[in-house]
Amino acid sequence: MKENKYDDPQFFEQYSKMSRSVQGLGGAGEWHELKKLLPDFAGKTVLDLGCGFGWHCRYAAEQGAESVTGVDLSEKMLKKAEEMTLSPNIRYVHSSIEEFPYSEDSFDVVISSLAFHYVESYAEVCRKIFNSIRENGSFVFSVEHPVFTAQGKQDWHYGPDGNPLYWPVDHYFTEGYRQAVFLGSEVVKYHRTLTTYLNVLTETGFSLGRVVEPQPDPAMLDLPGMKDELRRPMMLIIQAQKPSPGPRRETSR
Ligand SMILES: C[S@@+](CC[C@H](N)C(=O)[O-])C[C@H]1O[C@@H](n2cnc3c(N)ncnc32)[C@H](O)[C@@H]1O
Repeated sequence: MKENKYDDPQFFEQYSKMSRSVQGLGGAGEWHELKKLLPDFAGKTVLDLGCGFGWHCRYAAEQGAESVTGVDLSEKMLKKAEEMTLSPNIRYVHSSIEEFPYSEDSFDVVISSLAFHYVESYAEVCRKIFNSIRENGSFVFSVEHPVFTAQGKQDWHYGPDGNPLYWPVDHYFTEGYRQAVFLGSEVVKYHRTLTTYLNVLTETGFSLGRVVEPQPDPAMLDLPGMKDELRRPMMLIIQAQKPSPGPRRETSR
């Protein structure tokens, strides 16, 4: 099993204090944009990769999903998710995104919120997802934006007065391993260019829908540090679809 920072007691405690952990989707700065890209869940079979506390799983179930599978590597995150979940339509699976046993044509919708930047093998995971999504099924995910992950440390460059001067972007085209600092802890993440995020999807067979670089919800701009989120993109949201093969053409001799 892969190492997961979210099971580190100190990191977990810090993560549990974030507004997205306490308030759920309404406390997540990108939710107002992500929500617009989600399909109709009614009667659907849904997979949530890196489900954390299960907020998106519960949302899908509330919107009428027939069954929802939430997958996460962290036992601590899943324990909390289970405690907060009453719906019998949701099941949680302790697995990495990479090793989850994706079965063919099993899901109508695959979602993932802020987890793929922890995954090294993005292209391989996209291929597995493609095979497990039914025709016309939706794949919607958010990741930390390549501008946010490129330099690695994930912090502003500060002026002498302690105010953020600019966000450093460096080594943009060097993809892969980064040692980031998140919530005061060192965390391994993986940087990819915007080109990779998009082209891997189309090369895998998905058709691309909307791509959004969300700005914070205007209602949250008074929260500490939130106005600085208007200075550079922190997240990227991508909507894709598995197309149907279309009608077969008759060949004439
Ligand atoms: C930033 S949290 C997001 C949680 C949730 N999707 C949300 O938006 O509220 C990232 C989650 O991804 C999980 N995670 C990280 N790497 C993973 C992996 N390789 N496989 C499965 N889950 C992973 C973590 O345990 C954590 O719960």
